[in-house]
Amino acid sequence: MLSLLFAAHDRLVPPERRAGLRSLYERASYYGSRLRLGEDRFSEVEVETNTGCNRKCRICPRHKHEREEGLMSEALYGRLLDQLVAIGFRGRLSPVFYNEPLLDERLPALMRAARARLPHSLIVVFTNGSLLTRERILELVDAGVDTLLVSQYTQNLKADEGPYQRAVRDLPKRTMRHIRYRTLGDADPLSTSGGLVPVAKPVTRSRCMQASLSAVVDFKGNVLLCCNDYNATHTFGNIADEDLSTIWKKPDFQKLRKELRHGEFRLDICKRCASGEVMRPVNADATAPDPARPGRPGR
Ligand SMILES: C[S@@+](CC[C@H](N)C(=O)[O-])C[C@H]1O[C@@H](n2cnc3c(N)ncnc32)[C@H](O)[C@@H]1O
Ligand code: SF4
Ligand code: SF4
Repeated sequence: MLSLLFAAHDRLVPPERRAGLRSLYERASYYGSRLRLGEDRFSEVEVETNTGCNRKCRICPRHKHEREEGLMSEALYGRLLDQLVAIGFRGRLSPVFYNEPLLDERLPALMRAARARLPHSLIVVFTNGSLLTRERILELVDAGVDTLLVSQYTQNLKADEGPYQRAVRDLPKRTMRHIRYRTLGDADPLSTSGGLVPVAKPVTRSRCMQASLSAVVDFKGNVLLCCNDYNATHTFGNIADEDLSTIWKKPDFQKLRKELRHGEFRLDICKRCASGEVMRPVNADATAPDPARPGRPGR
């Protein structure tokens, strides 16, 4: 049902209206979950199980900004699952940060462990699709993945569409229901990742629900401000030392999220994110033509 709604959304809603709809959806989602749970709690967990990626998309900060590489240990991942089980987590869990999760050989086992421990959660794997094969799709779905969200970037389409199309060819309908496919290009409103990447149509914000909806854990266990904080400039604790829910309830973190929900952008990263401003001078890539969409600037 959800996949049908998403497919309809991608087909029917023009790119310029998606940011507004997303903002409405985020507010409804946060306040709905708060009402249900009786407390301010994340409804999504994004965990950086690996850091590597095989692409250099212009819309992503990873190829312009150096960051330590590594894998989350299985012990730390197990600890995170324990902490989520303890609070009866039923939200979305995704092995994602600025990475390609399919590069991690452990992915099916990690997803299977999450499904076994969190039977009511929604497991979504974000991927650029380049490493998908029929077998891997079937393996991940069998492991308990609800949705494979495949995003391909106009600059990579030539290289990536082939493997993806081959992988999904003749897949049974029941498996296809687990796949959501989209392409992203200059016509789409995108985030500057807190001012790190110039994008043609930067998303701006009058308030931020993102930090209140998602708990983001990096491969070392640090709990970050949000998914835009690529350089981990603001961390609030480490799940190796404290439970995620304890970290979430820390007064300084709670206060900051409340301010953000009310449109107060105190941190520099948030000011840039809200205004769509980019920290560094626009690089040459940002104005080079996008080969997949002639006449439009690339990113
Ligand atoms: C950073 S990617 C990592 C997962 C995988 N490598 C991929 O590209 O799908 C996670 C999600 O962020 C989205 N994304 C990447 N750059 C973005 C940007 N500048 N603004 C908004 N979303 C972005 C991707 O489309 C993807 O759905
Ligand atoms: S958007 Fe995804 S595929 Fe592209 S560089 Fe970033 S992490 Fe890799
Ligand atoms: S406003 Fe701040 S907390 Fe919210 S998404 Fe942007 S960088 Fe993250």
